[in-house]
Amino acid sequence: MIPIKNAQEIIKMRKACSIAAKVLDEMCNHVVAGISTYELDQIGKALIEEMGAKSACFNYRVGSKVYPAYTCISVNEEVIHGIGTFKRVLQEGDIVSVDVSVIYDDFIGDNARTVIIEPASGDAKKLVKVTEESLYKGIAQARSGNRVGDISAAIQEYVEKHGFSVVRDFVGHGVGRSMHEEPQVPNFGRRNSGPKLKAGMTLAIEPMVNMGGSSVRYADDGWTAVTSDGKLSAHFEHTVLVSDDEPEILTISKI
Ligand code: MF3
Ligand code: CO
Repeated sequence: MIPIKNAQEIIKMRKACSIAAKVLDEMCNHVVAGISTYELDQIGKALIEEMGAKSACFNYRVGSKVYPAYTCISVNEEVIHGIGTFKRVLQEGDIVSVDVSVIYDDFIGDNARTVIIEPASGDAKKLVKVTEESLYKGIAQARSGNRVGDISAAIQEYVEKHGFSVVRDFVGHGVGRSMHEEPQVPNFGRRNSGPKLKAGMTLAIEPMVNMGGSSVRYADDGWTAVTSDGKLSAHFEHTVLVSDDEPEILTISKI
C-alpha cells in the first residue's frame, strides 16, 4: 500500500524536509579541501540537533547491519552510504555526495547533493551536472495520473543520452513516517509502467549515476556502495509531493 498523506501530514513533511534541506545546504558549504569526512558528518549531527531534529540514518538497521554515522558522505567512486572517517580527507578535484535524512515530528525528509571541490576535471563536472538535471527530469513526471515508470524512464533516458549509466542496485522510494515506504522509484524503467501516482504521495527521487558501468559493490565497511570499475559516481535527491498540479519539491530550505 502506498501511503497518501493528508493535509496535516503534508505540513509535517514540509517541515521535516525543510530542515533536511537546511542541513544539507550548510554541510555543503563545509565541503572544502582539507576537511575529513568525519568532521563533516559531525557538523551535520550538530546542525540536525540544533534544529530539534534527529538523524534518520544513525542506528538505521538493515538485517544485522547498524549504520554508525549521522549523514552519508560518499567521495568519488563511492556511490552512496559512505561513512565519515578521519582517514578520508577531502582534496581538490573530489566530488562529494552528501545525503541528509532527518526525522522531525514523526516525519522524515530525505535529500542529497554532489558537490565538486574545484579545480575538477571537465568529465567530473559533466557527470555532476547531468545527474542533477536527470533528477529534475524525473521530478517533472511526478504528477497524479502518471506512473512510477514515467519518472524512472525520464531519468534513465536523460542519463544514457549523455553516455553515463544509472545504478540499478539502489532505488528511490516513498518517504514519510518511515524512511523507505512504497513505492520503489527505480532510476531505470519503462514509461507507463508501475504504480499509478496520486496526489498526497511523497517520493524521494534519487538518481545515482556512474561515469562508467552501472555495477556497484560494497566496500569493506559493509555499508559504502562503490562502483565496481572504480570510476566516479554522483547522486542527487529531493523529497517531492505529488499533486494534481506541478510537483512540489519539499526539500527546499525555507528556514
Ligand atoms: N537517504 C538514504 C537512503 O535513502 C539514507 C540511508 S541511511 C543509511 O537510503 F543508514 F542507510 F545510511
Ligand atoms: Co533516499
